[in-house]
Amino acid sequence: GRVAVFMGGDSAEREVSLKSGEAVLAALVSAGVDAFALDVQGDLLKTVENPEFDRVFIALHGRGGEDGTLQAILSQAGIPYTGSEVMASALAMDKLRTKYVFAGCGLPTPRFRAMSAASEAEQIITDLRPPLSVKPSREGSSIGIRKVTTAAELVEAYEAAAVLDDLVLVEEWIEGPEFTVSLLQDSALPAIGLSTDHEFYDYDAKYLADDTRYQIPCGLAPRDELRLQRLSLEAFRVVGCRTWGRVDIMQDSSGEFWLLEVNTVPGMTDHSLVPMAARAAGISFEELVVRILQDTLE
Ligand code: DAL
Ligand code: MG
Repeated sequence: GRVAVFMGGDSAEREVSLKSGEAVLAALVSAGVDAFALDVQGDLLKTVENPEFDRVFIALHGRGGEDGTLQAILSQAGIPYTGSEVMASALAMDKLRTKYVFAGCGLPTPRFRAMSAASEAEQIITDLRPPLSVKPSREGSSIGIRKVTTAAELVEAYEAAAVLDDLVLVEEWIEGPEFTVSLLQDSALPAIGLSTDHEFYDYDAKYLADDTRYQIPCGLAPRDELRLQRLSLEAFRVVGCRTWGRVDIMQDSSGEFWLLEVNTVPGMTDHSLVPMAARAAGISFEELVVRILQDTLE
């Protein structure tokens, strides 16, 4: 049957998604799959009315496409789709509640608080050890994330984050290095080490700067990389993800790993991380995309 690659959408990550979608479509077509792209804007329900496709490759990032909303609509319409189902998609989109799950399972994640009013800043600065990272709970691509040290900065960062999401997460800042582990069909691909001259791996470092360095092999001793991969797989499993995803992790100066989040529709642009990890494991972009799609055929 025909495959629709859902891309674009209305989220803050629209531009990234258009690039992911185009790359996915090109790979599917070159693999001989009958596929076309659909820029999914506006009413998602309309999109599945009298569809001209029988399955969907989801290349949408952020709210609406990655957060369980679309997954619920496709399930209800009986249309198979790639990646995680409703619950895992919704949970992984929400960094704060993902951390509740990590903490509940005894998995390491930086100490944190939920913040719901600027007046909580003094208390949070006292409870946690600055510097702190302030994040809108349900965003992607580092949009709205700020590093703060003082209560006044925290108030400012909170107010900026609260514009994007009424749910704001504050967590202890870990200097890094940062690592990311891609998961494909229940196994972990080689880890990637990330370094940047930016303060952290922010939106510009991800998509615009050319001074971001990707290390693969990641530079860890094999034993430590294995530990990192196991931890990532565990994070993927406790969140309940399906088929593929990417887990982001910080390492502190004592060598400990700390889970930040799980991404259920990671970037698939030609210089994105999952394709890079796949390539290092001998899996071409085309094979990667086909394997993700194949899981919808079972
Ligand atoms: N949210 C972006 C697309 C990523 O995780 O790769
Ligand atoms: Mg994310």
